[in-house]
Amino acid sequence: MRRRCKTAILISGSGTNLQAFIDAVSAGRLNLDLTVVCSNNANAFGLQRATKAGIPTVCVRHTDFPDRESFDAAVIANLDRFAPDLLILAGFMRMLSPIFVARYAGKILNIHPALLPLYPGLNTHQRVIEAGDDWHGSTVHFVTEKLDGGPRILQGRLAVHRGESADELAARVQAVEHQIYPEAAGWVGSGRVELRDGQTWMDSKLSDEPVKRTF
Ligand code: GRF
Repeated sequence: MRRRCKTAILISGSGTNLQAFIDAVSAGRLNLDLTVVCSNNANAFGLQRATKAGIPTVCVRHTDFPDRESFDAAVIANLDRFAPDLLILAGFMRMLSPIFVARYAGKILNIHPALLPLYPGLNTHQRVIEAGDDWHGSTVHFVTEKLDGGPRILQGRLAVHRGESADELAARVQAVEHQIYPEAAGWVGSGRVELRDGQTWMDSKLSDEPVKRTF
């Protein structure tokens, strides 16, 4: 039997996506071994969520390092003690250096609150409202050196309600994330989905487009 995928979750803040992983594993809906939670912010509420769930935590403060490379080297050293098979970026607000991405090539996932390739970067909800888009959502993707540009795996979309605020829209998108992120991570953890030659493969087939769900 394939052993359970050792998974590290990297956070900077509230950790509602981390909580979705914890809940999915404890409910038996997700077959990952949540091995460690790592934060660059000692005050991240997600660290308390991890401790409550009995998951080891490490904190590597980016402010203790002169540059991104030395910070990333410290994160790598801390993570490697746990020998993770998979890294889940869940609101980890640090850009990763090429060294970091290469160290865990094909093993890092991110979730971005937009229908990538639309709206990479910040303030996606406000930008979607200002553009008058009908649809918005979130995308789980492999992490490569291109910010929010790695091969996509799973996308959850929802209709934008006329007149809703960016905060209201963000809350609805987050609820979608809590469903799609554990699901997509489970696919990678089980080997059903993988990054091969810079592209997403699913069930041994090249997957040009992400799996799409409407909520
Ligand atoms: C999520 O909305 C995700 O899209 C973005 O960061 C946010 C993290 O939220 N990458 P939380 O800390 O999981 O609540």
